[in-house]
Amino acid sequence: MTLPHPLPEQDPELTTFNALRVGVFDSGLGGLSMMAALRHSLPGATFHYVADSGHAPYGERDDAFILARCEAITQALLDMGADMIVVACNTATAVAIRELRHAWPRLPFIGVEPGIKPAITLSPSGRIGVLATPMTLASAKFRSLVDAHAAGMALTLQPCPGLAAEIEKGALDSPALRGLVQRFSAPLLQADVDTAVLGCTHYPLIRPLFEAALPGVRLVDTSGAVARHARRLAQVLVHTGERSAAADAADLTLWTTGDPMHLQSVARQWLDAPTLRARALGD
Ligand code: DGL
Repeated sequence: MTLPHPLPEQDPELTTFNALRVGVFDSGLGGLSMMAALRHSLPGATFHYVADSGHAPYGERDDAFILARCEAITQALLDMGADMIVVACNTATAVAIRELRHAWPRLPFIGVEPGIKPAITLSPSGRIGVLATPMTLASAKFRSLVDAHAAGMALTLQPCPGLAAEIEKGALDSPALRGLVQRFSAPLLQADVDTAVLGCTHYPLIRPLFEAALPGVRLVDTSGAVARHARRLAQVLVHTGERSAAADAADLTLWTTGDPMHLQSVARQWLDAPTLRARALGD
């Protein structure tokens, strides 16, 4: 199993998250790259993970489509009793999280965004690459992130059309994937970046390919930071008693609008959980 980098530190004020139900979703398999950190940060919580693989990739869809999918999945997770939702997808966060928060004002949503802030802290030269979907890089939310934290910096923004779709196929070391990773890494090498942000949750699933294509470049993904944030929010929910009454039998249930066997086989490898099962979720 490849663990997120870095693993979140457990804070000393321990809270048990028994009976807290956490909904997590992504356009597909990508959000699995956050599950190890989330489970580590929220011991005792139960998770329902929705992979919208029947409608992936989001990164080349329009806003209205992505928003409609996010709303439908949020409703499905609420029907399962979710107390909080992790939008484990940079694209969905960029396009839809404001509207989701507006539609469900009492439901805590945690989004993910490309790790520009940690990259700035980590980069000695300030030459930073950002790899993400075309929709994320074109979004107003991403532009404000750059304006707020990296105005005037030498960022190399690299959209990666087709990469999430190729990762969705599940062969995480295929020649096709290697080719795409090399193609999208070339401009970053050209710009001599020392730090590269994996700005799509699918990309940490193929971290070894990026490590090979970008030797010596520090790779940043935000699963640890997001999991720490989820823990802080969960502590508030537990202290205020705002959570489901009953715990689920399984600590992680996987749902997909695509092929359950496919999700199951990738999740079993990635999460090192050989008995994990996935179920079908209707549209
Ligand atoms: N995993 C998603 C993200 O973090 C999107 C991939 C896609 O569906 O295009 O952006």
